[in-house]
Amino acid sequence: MNCAWSTLVTAASILAVLTILHLFFFPFGPSMDYFGVPVNISTSVGLPNNVTQITIPVIDLDNQYLPNAVAYRGAHWKPEIGHWLSLCDSSLMEVDIVEKIGGKSCTNNCSYQGVCNYELGQCQCFHGYAGEACAIKMNLNCNYPALPEFPYGRWVVSICPAHCDTTRAMCFCGEGTKYPKRPVAEACGFKINLPYEPGAPKLTDWTKADLDNIFTTNHSKQGWCNVDPPQAYASKVKFKEECDCKYDGLWGLFCEVPVESVCLNQCSGHGFCRGGFCQCDSDWYGSDCSTPSISSSVLEWPQWLRPAQVTMPSDTQVSGSVPGFRAVVKRRRPLIYVYDLPPEFNSLLLEGRHFKFECVNRIYDDKNATVWTDQLYGAQIAIYESLLASSHRTLNGEEADYFFVPVLDSCIITRADDAPHLSMQDHKGLRSSLTLEYYRRAFDHISSQYTYWNHSSGRDHIWVLTRTLVNWFVDCSVILCIYYNAIYM
Ligand SMILES: *[C@@H]1O[C@H](CO)[C@@H](O)[C@H](O)[C@H]1NC(C)=O
Ligand SMILES: *[C@@H]1O[C@H](CO)[C@@H](O)[C@H](O)[C@H]1NC(C)=O
Ligand SMILES: *[C@@H]1O[C@H](CO)[C@@H](O)[C@H](O)[C@H]1NC(C)=O
Ligand SMILES: *[C@@H]1O[C@H](CO)[C@@H](O)[C@H](O)[C@H]1NC(C)=O
Ligand SMILES: *[C@@H]1O[C@H](CO)[C@@H](O)[C@H](O)[C@H]1NC(C)=O
Ligand SMILES: *[C@@H]1O[C@H](CO)[C@@H](O)[C@H](O)[C@H]1NC(C)=O
Repeated sequence: MNCAWSTLVTAASILAVLTILHLFFFPFGPSMDYFGVPVNISTSVGLPNNVTQITIPVIDLDNQYLPNAVAYRGAHWKPEIGHWLSLCDSSLMEVDIVEKIGGKSCTNNCSYQGVCNYELGQCQCFHGYAGEACAIKMNLNCNYPALPEFPYGRWVVSICPAHCDTTRAMCFCGEGTKYPKRPVAEACGFKINLPYEPGAPKLTDWTKADLDNIFTTNHSKQGWCNVDPPQAYASKVKFKEECDCKYDGLWGLFCEVPVESVCLNQCSGHGFCRGGFCQCDSDWYGSDCSTPSISSSVLEWPQWLRPAQVTMPSDTQVSGSVPGFRAVVKRRRPLIYVYDLPPEFNSLLLEGRHFKFECVNRIYDDKNATVWTDQLYGAQIAIYESLLASSHRTLNGEEADYFFVPVLDSCIITRADDAPHLSMQDHKGLRSSLTLEYYRRAFDHISSQYTYWNHSSGRDHIWVLTRTLVNWFVDCSVILCIYYNAIYM
């Protein structure tokens, strides 16, 4: 190793993500010359007090490797992904890296209600399913318990006077209507009282289902749940504006057109996007189905795993099952390991969205063409997706220089209190407190299930936090280690 990794880790992890952020916001923009001022390449390294400071020798890197590189604190880097750590010439040389291909199968194939993580042999269950083999169907109510004065419970985004899909806490027309799968989201199903004076806001009466507009089968004016789209388009029937198509995966005035939902990397061509959660083909796994298992075809492996020299364990035939095998691949450092966290931290938050625009950077229209949203929170997904697809990703944490912890806190923030099961009651109604709880759980998960955190006390772990949290985190010593390595948005 030509340089001390540990000294560069903190600076470089920030630079790495700055690079990605930069590419995200200015893909064809000006070159990234934030640090264009000449700097002193000598760098002193933090050492115990009784040791004299050492100085990294000055190397003329510009001439040696990278003309026009940008220097920052002695580390040269270029504004392209793949030149994060140019000071270390290992980023320029290909080295043999051992990649781990998982083969631990899951109990009962996760009952076909989840995706098997073949590295751990653990199921990741779809929204509304739980248990080791995803065999337990959950009962996620749309409504809070009924009260005498509130027959549908107190207000929450998921409040539903029609059929509640209790695997997702989402509201649909249901049995007995002509279009049982048409959404009746939030105010759509309730009586709206006209403003008491011109200009005043309309008031939704959360205690009365809107029988006239939604459920009626009166032939002269069919309700929302019974109207045929062609007939409605032809006669230009208008429904109240609250009945728009809020859930992802549906388009058209009557939500009659199925479209792509937003999934991480749209499941990488190895799965089906079910409302935000990638349902991977049986040989693939990961939140975006980009991780091959031992039974997926080597020809379909992602580019960054090829060409690979695969060593099969010799006892395959004997035991009939292998926990995985190793593939030696020529890679360039730095390498980043992206945790495949339990889906509660990412895929489930996408699958259960009540508004399609929530926390994503895009949706798909009726031709499945991409419609970009302009909200900054979508950047979190963009970073996660680019790391999952990056040529610097490794499947072997032992080889990794960095670790990425994909907690989609922007989805938690926008979804807090969307449904009774996302209640912030235990968090005094504070979104940041609920989000902190997710971070704590993610921290507990990786520090107990993996050895990588303890190796470095998390110094090489990268987190992406949304801006709203920052003030909260500053005072919180429990999570201070996360704070140091976080990127704020
Ligand atoms: C650069 O580093 C050298 C050696 O540590 C030091 O003597 C010099 O003052 C530094 N120059 C600047 C501009 O910091
Ligand atoms: C520096 O201090 C540490 C502990 O304070 C001690 O273990 C180490 O031997 C010391 N090193 C030198 C060179 O004195
Ligand atoms: C799991 O799925 C595989 C492939 O689809 C199949 O061969 C196997 O029989 C299934 N196992 C169980 C227990 O259903
Ligand atoms: C059907 O709707 C029309 C127009 O709104 C109304 O006059 C009629 O009374 C309704 N019929 C029934 C059976 O509700
Ligand atoms: C868009 O994608 C959805 C879901 O994959 C599919 O059902 C639909 O037919 C597609 N529409 C078009 C126009 O390709
Ligand atoms: C990491 O350290 C913590 C605290 O010392 C310990 O509780 C945990 O079990 C360790 N994790 C692993 C995977 O060994």
